[in-house]
Parts: sequence; structure tokens; C-alpha cells
Amino acid sequence: MWCRFPGHPMAWLCLLMVLLVPCSLSSSSDVPDFDPPLYNISLDLPPQQRWEPVLKHYNSTYLRELLTSIINQLVPKWALAVICPLAEMDLESVVREPYAGEIRGLSRGLGMCAADVLILNLAYEAAAFCTSIIAQDENGNIYHGRNMDYHFGETLRKITLDLNFVKDGQIAYTGTAFMGYVGLWTGQSPYKFTVSGNQRVHGDWWRSAVSAFLMRSSPVSWLMRDALNDAEDYQSAKHQLSTTPIIAKVYYIMAGTMPGEGVIITRDRLGSADILPLDPLNGEWFRVVTNYEPTTTPHPYDYRRILAKEAMNATGQANINLDTIYEVLSVNHVLNHNTLYTTVMSAAFPEKYKTRMRNKVEQIGFFQPFPKHHSSKNFI
Ligand SMILES: *[C@@H]1O[C@H](CO)[C@@H](O)[C@H](O)[C@H]1NC(C)=O
Ligand SMILES: *[C@@H]1O[C@H](CO)[C@@H](O)[C@H](O)[C@H]1NC(C)=O
Ligand SMILES: *[C@@H]1O[C@H](CO)[C@@H](O)[C@H](O)[C@H]1NC(C)=O
Repeated sequence: MWCRFPGHPMAWLCLLMVLLVPCSLSSSSDVPDFDPPLYNISLDLPPQQRWEPVLKHYNSTYLRELLTSIINQLVPKWALAVICPLAEMDLESVVREPYAGEIRGLSRGLGMCAADVLILNLAYEAAAFCTSIIAQDENGNIYHGRNMDYHFGETLRKITLDLNFVKDGQIAYTGTAFMGYVGLWTGQSPYKFTVSGNQRVHGDWWRSAVSAFLMRSSPVSWLMRDALNDAEDYQSAKHQLSTTPIIAKVYYIMAGTMPGEGVIITRDRLGSADILPLDPLNGEWFRVVTNYEPTTTPHPYDYRRILAKEAMNATGQANINLDTIYEVLSVNHVLNHNTLYTTVMSAAFPEKYKTRMRNKVEQIGFFQPFPKHHSSKNFI
């Protein structure tokens, strides 16, 4: 903890707030759905400078408080003790570019130490739960939608943003992220592919992730951004996402532009455990993934997948498009108290990339993936 700002008076206030305010499951405000802000990140700038124009839109004192509270809620103390000294000494030897430079630039802009911003990036990875859908319509168009579910969405709602990553005046790729985060869980490479990630770890995420990270494996969201940045086409992105070592298990969900181009990649840390493509010729014109193996039965209280599948069937292949996928992702339980945002996208129509911040106020039955009496740290 020495690498924080122990003398900062706000640090204590934050900690107090975290202790007093229960996690987002039980709180809900009356903010209706809204569009997150959209900013450009110039890939032509050196990594350290890329986030400066985005940071200008935020109150940095407020951001610092908020991000510190996320770290306090989510990061086990031993993980801080392992990573902070390493990152403080030499971030560039622990983290590759452009992520090291971007983290340094963010830490300067935020007035936080680089180790904290690095830890924040890992903390975001530890806590993402989601529903992803890919589908092909009767004309062979491919669509992709996702709900991002977080159990502390109340905080993240204020700092979610859409980003266009711009290279030579062109949009190289688009994604949805959180302030302070250099990875992507949702993204689109125009005319090539779209991708989303769903958490696959149940239990202690931190222990194996931190050791894999120190062995230089990639955080799962950095690999997604790498694929968006590097891959020439759908097939090479699929290969990259299937084979590159990552720090934690995950489901990568990809959709392309051509009929049949859609796949769920069930990832272990070193390679893929399963690859399940769309199979429209055999009636499998859509796939739905939450946080369970595609072939096993979800937790008995988690209705997201079955309800999304029923809603897809009820919609029918003739009627599937980005609007109807959004409706499926808005069905009760699929859309739940933890849903932070919904994104719908189709790589063949990149201008249709759309994220909405969600705010489900009504009680939603007993969908309860995380028992209420557990703190977020117990859960992770
Ligand atoms: C920035 O945020 C801090 C902490 O929340 C607050 O005290 C301050 O008034 C804010 N500044 C502006 C210009 O809004
Ligand atoms: C973002 O970049 C695109 C592509 O260069 C450009 O058309 C657009 O005007 C930029 N938006 C802003 C707000 O700078
Ligand atoms: C959806 O329809 C298919 C084909 O008719 C059927 O096999 C499947 O069980 C249905 N799924 C749900 C969840 O209703």
C-alpha cells in the first residue's frame, strides 16, 4: 500500500465510503439509459500522450477518488504488495508497449502512481460478467451483441466510454472501455470482425492471474485490443485469440462479415479448450454465451442464457438484426441489476456500432449470481 498516496486526505474518505456503501446490488438510482461519451484516441501519438485529450473531459480529482475506491474494493492486499513494488521500480520491464506508455501517461494525467493504474487494469479484468450473442440472418449478415454485467456498475457507469482508435486519419478500430483502462472487452475492427470477452473464471481470479501476468502472459483485454490492432482479417484474429497465452480463462466471442463467420473460443490460459462456430447450415444460426461452458448447464439461479436463447428463437432468423438483438439483450434477467452497458455491432456496417448505458431499476425476481452477503472480494 506504500505506493499509494497514504497522506492524501481524500484517501480516508474514500475508504470510509467503500466501507459504508454496500455494493451496487442493493443500490439503484433513477438515471435512465443514456449514450456514453465517444472520444478519439490517436494511435499516431506516442503512447504516453494518447489519453491526455480524453482526460481533459474529466475532473481529475474526482476520477482519482473513484478509481482509488475501485482498487480498494477489488484488489486483495497481497496482490498490491506483489505488483506495486515491481511496477514502481520499472513498469517497462513488467509491461510491454503500448500499454506501459499508456499506463504511464494515464498515471501522470490522473496524479496516481503507475503501479495503481496497472493494478486498476487488472482489477477491471477480474470482475466482468456478461452475455454475448452472435447471429446470422437469412441473408448471411452477421450480428453481434453483448451485455456487460459488473457487480459494481454504479461506479463504472460514470466512467464508461466509447473510443475510436484513429491511425492516419482513419478509424483503425472502435471499442468500449472504462476510464483508466487500456484494454478492451468489446470492440470492432471495421469490415473485418467484432469481438467481446466474457469472464470464465469462478473462484480465485487473482492468484493464478497475477503469477501468469508476472510470467509475461497478456491480460485478456489487452489481447483483444492487440487483435483489433494487428489482425489482417477474421481468420487471423481468430488464430491470435485462440493461441496467445493469457493470464486468465475467458470466452472470446467473435463475429466476422461473411456467412458462417462467428465463433465462441473457450480459452484456457495457454490455448483454446473449445472452438464452437456458428453452423447456420445445420440450423445453428445463433450462439449465446454467458459465463458458463457452452455445453454445460448454468447455475440454477442464473437464467440469462436460457432466456436469451428463448428470445432469439422467438425472434426468428428472418427478423434478426441489431435492433432485435438489443431487444433480446433487454429481456428481464438477461438485462439485470448488474448490467452496465449493452453494445450491438456488425463489422460489415461499422457505423452502426452502438453502446447504451443501462439502468435496470425494477426488481428482477431472484436472478442473483452473487450472493448478497458476500463482499466483492470474497466473490473474486
Ligand atoms: C472535482 O471533484 C472534486 C472531488 O469530487 C470536487 O471537490 C471539485 O469541486 C470538483 N471540481 C470541479 C471543477 O467540479
Ligand atoms: C475522430 O476521428 C475521425 C477520423 O479521423 C474524425 O472523422 C472525427 O472528426 C474525429 N472526432 C473528433 C471529435 O475529433
Ligand atoms: C430454440 O429452437 C431450437 C430449434 O427449434 C431448439 O432445438 C431449442 O431447444 C430452442 N431453444 C430454446 C431455449 O427454446
